[in-house]
Amino acid sequence: MQSILPQALYPLALIEAAAGTHTVVTHGLIMAAYLVAGVLFLLSLGGLSSQESAKRGAVFGIAGMALAIVATYFLPQVGGSPLAIGMMVVGGSIGLVLAKRVEMTAMPQLVAILHSFVGLAAVLIGFASFLDTSHVVTGAERIVHTIEIYLGVLIGAVTFTGSIVAYGKLDGKIGSAALLLPGRHFWNLVIGLVCVALGVWFVGETSISAGIVPLLIMTFLACLFGVHMVMAIGGADMPVVISMLNSYSGWAASATGFMLSNDLLIITGALVGSSGAILSIIMCRAMNRRFLSVIMGGFGTTQSSGASSAAQDQGEVQPITPEETADLIRHSKSIVVVPGYGMAVSHAQHGVSELARRLRAAGKKFEFAIHPVAGRMPGHMNVLLAEAKVPYDIVLEMDEINDDLDEVDVVIVIGANDIVNPSALEEPDSPIAGMPVLEVWKAGTVIVSKRSMATGYAGVQNPLFFKENTRMLFGDAKESVEAVLAALGELGTKHPSKQAAKV
Ligand code: TAP
Repeated sequence: MQSILPQALYPLALIEAAAGTHTVVTHGLIMAAYLVAGVLFLLSLGGLSSQESAKRGAVFGIAGMALAIVATYFLPQVGGSPLAIGMMVVGGSIGLVLAKRVEMTAMPQLVAILHSFVGLAAVLIGFASFLDTSHVVTGAERIVHTIEIYLGVLIGAVTFTGSIVAYGKLDGKIGSAALLLPGRHFWNLVIGLVCVALGVWFVGETSISAGIVPLLIMTFLACLFGVHMVMAIGGADMPVVISMLNSYSGWAASATGFMLSNDLLIITGALVGSSGAILSIIMCRAMNRRFLSVIMGGFGTTQSSGASSAAQDQGEVQPITPEETADLIRHSKSIVVVPGYGMAVSHAQHGVSELARRLRAAGKKFEFAIHPVAGRMPGHMNVLLAEAKVPYDIVLEMDEINDDLDEVDVVIVIGANDIVNPSALEEPDSPIAGMPVLEVWKAGTVIVSKRSMATGYAGVQNPLFFKENTRMLFGDAKESVEAVLAALGELGTKHPSKQAAKV
């Protein structure tokens, strides 16, 4: 080859060869970096599966993402563009400020809005990919590429609007009650069938001007479907919606990866998509719901029992003071704390942690009972307790402790409501009917720390508050816990009292 090149072209050929080798080396390095990032993401997911290893998991995730961003920056399509750096600096700074500012209680809303960004990105990349004339493909490759675009835009649009509605519901900007339009299942089916027909039309078109029509109509319908789907889901079922949208955002990212031929995006999206789906199933099991019923808006929608429990004359509640509470726990051998959303709102976790320390030091049995949907996002309570340095071994899951609650002297419910509501088991037409709950009423005494008689997230009244062995500790949870600590004082390292407390 070289022999037939004119002498003058030698240097040029050498430069090209060098550039070619350089490209191969760069490509090889990028792929190696992607492989390492993929492994780091797997290690991250593995780490996040238990409290002890969660921090390590987060570090693996951060390292994997940093590596992925740097490697992507050197891809030929990005080509070290200064614009990309500018966008990363702007986006990264906004993300940093928002994440630093956000309250722990507002985390679910942040996650929901971030999911909407992933959906929007998939839609925009889908359109850009379709309108891009620099990369023309034909035959079977064209069909595969158009299907990738269509599916990416479809999933992205549903994720985009669904997540915005979820954000609105979680943030209280939209009411948490389910919007049940007449014939909603029929309309969902019609939208689904029309989207399939539009897909066939889209894949059959070879010109941009003709293909853009079904793509635009489908995007509009998918956006509509996203809104309708999440609007139809009742407040009590929102935990499943969050993990489901998490899963959708993963599939949207994976579809984007196919459109851009980016292997790491495909892998990462699939990891998020499948772990989100598994989490949705775990959440459904925890709430005794059928996944399909939840996403069709079939549950969390009954209006009757919330009203019926509230309307029934349930009798008087019995208040208790912080001093009386301190006295009661001083004479108890075993204490269980059930934290809920109110503990997060009032930042009571540090006081609760101190209570645990003092009572354990005094030789009492002290444990936490965590309901899988306590708070407003998966693992919400575990994160708060870990932040307050509560030892992991005294934090028990609902299934680990429910059967033993009848042996406990005092259960202190701190800012929790729905997750300790007996009507979930006793009232078949309750919006939370069938959801497993912490059966705290079986304990000797139950103390409920909350500010008022207001309902919890599901909007149903709680018969627990009216039970014979329940005492209401009214007030902000943090202030109440601090007042109990002040009344309790340091207990030293005495052995537990022989007499179990009972009101
Ligand atoms: P909720 O049922 O929402 O009850 C929280 C209680 O905390 C309220 O009754 C409120 O009563 C009290 N509270 C609020 N601020 C307080 C403060 N400063 N001090 C003391 N108490 C305070 O919470 P839960 O028992 O944790 O149940 C979780 C609910 O959220 C479930 O219905 C679940 O389905 C839903 N949800 C969960 C998730 C996930 S993934 N975990 C996501 C979305 C929704 P007062 O106003 O009277 O004080």
